[in-house]
Amino acid sequence: MKLVLAPMEGLTDPIMRDVLTHVGSFDWCVTEFIRVTDSVLPDHVYHNYCPELLHDGKTAAGTPVHVQFLGNNPEMLAANAIRAVELGAPAIDMNFGCPAKTVNRHRGGSVLLDEPEVVHMLVKAVRDAVPSHIPVSAKMRLGYMDRNFTLENAHAIEDAGAAWVTVHARTKAEGYTPPAFWDQLQPIREALKINVIANGEIWTNADAKQCRVESGCEDLMIGRAAVTTPDITQCIRKNTDEPLISWDELLALQIRFLNGPYKKEINMVGRYKQWIGMMSKHYPEAKMLWDEVKRVKRLDEIIEKLNTTKR
Ligand SMILES: Cc1cc2nc3c(=O)[nH]c(=O)nc-3n(C[C@H](O)[C@H](O)[C@H](O)COP(=O)(O)O)c2cc1C
Repeated sequence: MKLVLAPMEGLTDPIMRDVLTHVGSFDWCVTEFIRVTDSVLPDHVYHNYCPELLHDGKTAAGTPVHVQFLGNNPEMLAANAIRAVELGAPAIDMNFGCPAKTVNRHRGGSVLLDEPEVVHMLVKAVRDAVPSHIPVSAKMRLGYMDRNFTLENAHAIEDAGAAWVTVHARTKAEGYTPPAFWDQLQPIREALKINVIANGEIWTNADAKQCRVESGCEDLMIGRAAVTTPDITQCIRKNTDEPLISWDELLALQIRFLNGPYKKEINMVGRYKQWIGMMSKHYPEAKMLWDEVKRVKRLDEIIEKLNTTKR
């Protein structure tokens, strides 16, 4: 069973990937989407999104990081994919799932699921451009406003030469409102020869098991749950719903996160609060910590607070 850390813009950035792959056992992660319009992006943009490129395309824990692109210009997507591979990307993923209005308005992300022939053209352009040993994959939803083209899109991705497809088991219209329709992945899996990775609303080991039964998919991509409960991959692999990481270990992870190579202190404080806010849904200790740090603006104050909380 493969477990993949989901791309999440503003959430699974390089610092979070470092922390989550340090504790979790992911087969690979995917960068936040890199938007391609009409140029080949300069190297510093790649190194911002994916500093792991400077380290053999892997996080410090040794987990490969695939580079994800979003766009609708086949030549530019191909040229950027070539550049990413030259810089050390071990694989390229293409985003056909993003629901953001601004992105969709510019014909990027999930809106392209209404045009399976465009999906095919874009994946093929990238597949043809990069060396054959570099996997090209795609991530899609069940559809944009409806599920009329689910199978067409899946076939378009396969026929374009993708090595696998990850499917978030909802349409764009369904957004992030539970449930995810894991059973809707079954026909896709049955129709394709390439691997289908299931994604959406897997929060616990029990969910992972249920998703695998309903979808028939072996492999899973985990997003928000990896941030909320960083031991989820261990729980899935060991088939338990009991926590496998202590609060003290989680505090050590938080300190690792806060010591990460941030650019602006205020952004990092915000990111940390976002994370502790997500964790407080699950850990009572995180809820208490949230109450203590919510008004703190300085990173060193937060780190000190964590160090004193640590037993
Ligand atoms: C804050 C946020 C940002 C996201 N950014 C991306 C992205 O950059 N690329 C992408 O393909 N999906 C993105 N997604 C979708 C996730 O990869 C995933 O498909 C979705 O969260 C469902 O999985 P989950 O229920 O395990 O979180 C994002 C989701 C969230 C919540």
